[in-house]
Amino acid sequence: MRHFSGNTRLLSPAKPTIILILLFLFLRLSTAWRPWPNQKNNVTEHEFGANKKYEGSSEFVKMKYHMGPVLTSNITVHIIWYGTWPNTQKRIIREFINSISAPGNRSPSVSGWWKTVQLYTDQTDSNVSKTVILGKEKNDRLLSHGKTLTRLSVQSVIKSAITAKTEPLPVHPNSGLYLLVTSDDVYVQDFCQNVCGFHYFTYPSIVGYTLPYAWVGNSAKSCPGVCAYPFAVPSYIPGLKPLKSPNGDVGIDGMISVIAHEIAELATNPLVNAWYAGQDPTFPVEIADLCEGIYGTGGGGSYTGQMLKDGDGATYNMHGIRRRFLVQWVWNNVVNYCTGPNALD
Ligand SMILES: *[C@@H]1O[C@H](CO)[C@@H](O)[C@H](O)[C@H]1NC(C)=O
Ligand SMILES: *[C@@H]1O[C@H](CO)[C@@H](O)[C@H](O)[C@H]1NC(C)=O
Ligand SMILES: *[C@@H]1O[C@H](CO)[C@@H](O)[C@H](O)[C@H]1NC(C)=O
Repeated sequence: MRHFSGNTRLLSPAKPTIILILLFLFLRLSTAWRPWPNQKNNVTEHEFGANKKYEGSSEFVKMKYHMGPVLTSNITVHIIWYGTWPNTQKRIIREFINSISAPGNRSPSVSGWWKTVQLYTDQTDSNVSKTVILGKEKNDRLLSHGKTLTRLSVQSVIKSAITAKTEPLPVHPNSGLYLLVTSDDVYVQDFCQNVCGFHYFTYPSIVGYTLPYAWVGNSAKSCPGVCAYPFAVPSYIPGLKPLKSPNGDVGIDGMISVIAHEIAELATNPLVNAWYAGQDPTFPVEIADLCEGIYGTGGGGSYTGQMLKDGDGATYNMHGIRRRFLVQWVWNNVVNYCTGPNALD
C-alpha cells in the first residue's frame, strides 16, 4: 500500500523506527520489486535474470493478524472514473473485476488467484469473501477536484461521488470497496515516485463514513516504465525489452496488477488493523507488497518468474472473462511464500 511511506517520514525518525524502516526497505528490496526511479543508479544488468530468489520466501517475513476486520461479506467494488475514460479502457477494468469470482474460466484463472486471498480469516474464523461483484459506477469527467490530487483530496473526490445529486454511489461501509481510478493526465501525490496506487479508509470528518478505498492511476503518459512494468521499461535500463501486453493497452494492462494488488490488500486489511507484517502500523507490509513484481514460479528480486506467452506474443499469467491478464502473486500465510494460479509445482 505504501500510503505513508513518503520521504518526509523517512528523514527524521526515532531510533527504533530506523530499524523498522531498514527492515521494511530490506523486505521491499528483496521481495517486492518495481523499477522505481530512486533506485536507478543501482540497477545493473547483472541483477536482471541472475536473481532468482524463490517467490519471496523469507524467514524474516512474519505476516501477522492484528485482530481487525477483513472483508467477509460479498465485496462490492464501486468505481469512480476520474478524468476521461474511453469505453474500451473501462471494459478491460470491469472485466477484470468481474473475473475475480467468475466460475469456469480457463485455468490458470483470476478466480484461482483470489483463492490465496480467501485464506485470510478474522477473529471468528470467517474467511475473506469468495464473492467480488462490480457495483455502481460514477463518472467524474470534469475533474471535480482538479488535475492534481493529494491523499486528502482523494477523499473529497469519494465524498463528491457518494453525495452527488444524481445517482450517488451507495454507502456500504462493511462490504463496499471504493476504487478511484485516475486517467493518464491526472497527477496524484507521490504517483510514479514511490506509488502506483494505494489503499486506505476515508475519515468520517471528511466523507461522513469510514469506507475502505483504493486509488490507482493510469501511468501511460507519466511513468509506464515503473507502474506498467514489464509492458514498458524505464529508459535508464539499457537493453531491456518491454513485453507485449495482453489487452493492447499498456497503461491499463499495467493498472490491472495494481488494482489487483490494492483489492487483495483491502480485503485482508481494510482498516489497516488486520493482516500485515512488521511492527509499525504506519509501515504495514501487506500481502501484495511482499509479492510485487512476482508473476510466476521462480520470481523474486527483479525476476518476474515464469509467465505464459500466447500465439500473438502477449505475456500474461491468468485467464478471466474473455481476456487474459498479468497479475502479481500474493502472500500465502499457510505456506509462507507468494502463490498464484500459474504455479508450476
Ligand atoms: C549501490 O548499492 C551498493 C550496495 O548494494 C552501495 O554500496 C552503492 O553505494 C550504491 N550505489 C549508488 C550509486 O547508490
Ligand atoms: C479459510 O481459511 C483457512 C485458514 O487459512 C483455510 O484453511 C481454508 O481453506 C479457507 N477456506 C476457504 C474457502 O478458502
Ligand atoms: C453473495 O453472493 C452470492 C453469490 O456468490 C449470492 O448467492 C448471495 O445471495 C450473496 N449474498 C448477499 C447477502 O448478497
